[in-house]
Amino acid sequence: MNIHLIRRKYLDFFISKGHAELPSSALIPENDPTTLFTGSGMQPMVPYLLGQEHPLGKRLCDSQKCFRAQDIEEVGDRSHTTFFEMLGNWSLGDYFKQEQIPWMFEFLTKELGLDPKRLYVTVYKGNPGLGVEQDKESIQLWKDQFSSIGIDLDVVADPIKDGVKNNDRIFIYDEKKNWWSRSGVPEKMPVGEPGGPDSEMFYDFGIELGLHEASGLKTPCHPNCDCGRFVEIGNNVFMQYQKTSQGFEELPQKNVDFGGGLERIAAALNNDPDMFKINVFAGAINKLEELSGKQYGDPDNVLAFRVALDHIRAATFLIADRVVPSNKDHGYFVRRLLRRAIRYGKKLGINSGFTDQIAGEFIDEYKIAYPRLAQERAKIIEELVAEEEKFRKTLEKGEKRFSKIFDKKGEIEGEDAFELYATYGFPLELTEEMAKEQGQKINREVFECEFDKHKDLSRAGSEKKFKGGLAKDSQETTRLHTATHILHQALRNVLGNHVEQRGSNITSDRLRFDFSHPEKLSDNQKQEVERIVNEQIQNQLPITCDLMSVEDAKSLGAIGLFGDKYKDLEKVKVYTVGNEHVGVFSREICGGPHANNTVELGHFRILKEEASSAGIRRIKAILE
Ligand code: ALA
Repeated sequence: MNIHLIRRKYLDFFISKGHAELPSSALIPENDPTTLFTGSGMQPMVPYLLGQEHPLGKRLCDSQKCFRAQDIEEVGDRSHTTFFEMLGNWSLGDYFKQEQIPWMFEFLTKELGLDPKRLYVTVYKGNPGLGVEQDKESIQLWKDQFSSIGIDLDVVADPIKDGVKNNDRIFIYDEKKNWWSRSGVPEKMPVGEPGGPDSEMFYDFGIELGLHEASGLKTPCHPNCDCGRFVEIGNNVFMQYQKTSQGFEELPQKNVDFGGGLERIAAALNNDPDMFKINVFAGAINKLEELSGKQYGDPDNVLAFRVALDHIRAATFLIADRVVPSNKDHGYFVRRLLRRAIRYGKKLGINSGFTDQIAGEFIDEYKIAYPRLAQERAKIIEELVAEEEKFRKTLEKGEKRFSKIFDKKGEIEGEDAFELYATYGFPLELTEEMAKEQGQKINREVFECEFDKHKDLSRAGSEKKFKGGLAKDSQETTRLHTATHILHQALRNVLGNHVEQRGSNITSDRLRFDFSHPEKLSDNQKQEVERIVNEQIQNQLPITCDLMSVEDAKSLGAIGLFGDKYKDLEKVKVYTVGNEHVGVFSREICGGPHANNTVELGHFRILKEEASSAGIRRIKAILE
């Protein structure tokens, strides 16, 4: 069954249950500065899950385009893709488990005709510490579904230990697996964030494929095992809690947030764990085979095919949503996707422009479901051709330069990676990947140090973003980060050298710094700390970064978190505020980035000083 039909069947099924169909939102979230890309179907729904009224009612369904930048390097195995579609249905304080579980069972087994014997489900164990009970209701509802078609089953209380046996069908896991919120497990949720227990559905590709043995895992296989025998095809989140400063409270309404992997459901219906064998890739695979003269089925080529297919599809959708390749923010990801795809195309022997032709296949494949692709066809092709032309010019030279350095020194150092970045436009990750193919690891710290030396702040920001996938206002956080270093030293000057950093958290609005000190600061002490920080700002001190061994850093009096964090690093980055000529104010081991000069900081003000825990104080401060 092709994915366009599965998508339609899903939407029609939920429309028949009283849901209104929503169009997919764009890949770049609107009015949500906390994330760069839409990475799950529920992201655009948050205000409604929290109680805002939706104009289309309390029952909604859609198929949402998603992009997960953090998975770029995972692509290459049989199941990871950066772009995917998430089927979603929502109850905004309307129906709950009693409806959702039977509906899902009916949809998967009757509408789609998935073999129920290959379906496995998981439920939440409960946690008295959080005041949340085991989800017995879902266990019973699943039991009823399976028994209605004559499947006997057992419930497994500790699947990680016991694995899957005989009639095992329902598996109980703790919050690491069966709790969902945008920030993950309950401890990681910020106050105000909605979340709740979930019940997931897995498809079993079959023990006979031998995936568990082949994975080399020594632990027993269970639905959440990484071997690939089971794949999660959908997740029913019972979103009924909101984090508070004390723990959790019930949301005013009990919601259902269902998310289903459209491509994964298609792979299950194919009964083939290779996601790239589903129909949407067929045209593009044929085209790649034709252009390269290589076969997808050949194990030597499969990785390169998958990277090129995934990355070009993702770039096509992103450009249609108006993200063009650039060195900044969202555009940097498109650039990285394309540069990576081109390099893998080259591995397949493709030495001239091809990304536009592969994109053309995807546009044709998806144009009915996503008319925007066809409307933007000319723009997509134009961007791909221009980006590919630009990169091809330097790719060869860069690869030659890489080999030359490698032949000469037997290694690629962080400085070389920076040269490849600055001269040939090689994203760090690309050089890292090439180095990895030679069994080498690049010292990121050195690259970043070079980067900082040459940086302009906005670019430094996008490098950082790119790691975590989180949007931050880069200039603000960079300035606050530098203010944190100055504050740390100012506290030591005023209170004594027992003051050590115990935690730091920076948002685009404020810094938060935890430090060891036994008692509340007096008003005079706070004023003095503020005065010292502002004095350093007025003195217009330069900030420089140097690389040195941990020993040298210590002997220069650098503060910072020593211990395990740095033990494997030959060299660390040390940021110095001030210098020998104007006087050194602070020296700290740190990953950066930082402002170039304290004058960029403006004016520093402490908002609050309070206890964080025993013997630890917390300061919140802003730059204004
Ligand atoms: N919001 C849930 C997820 O993304 C369904 O998995």
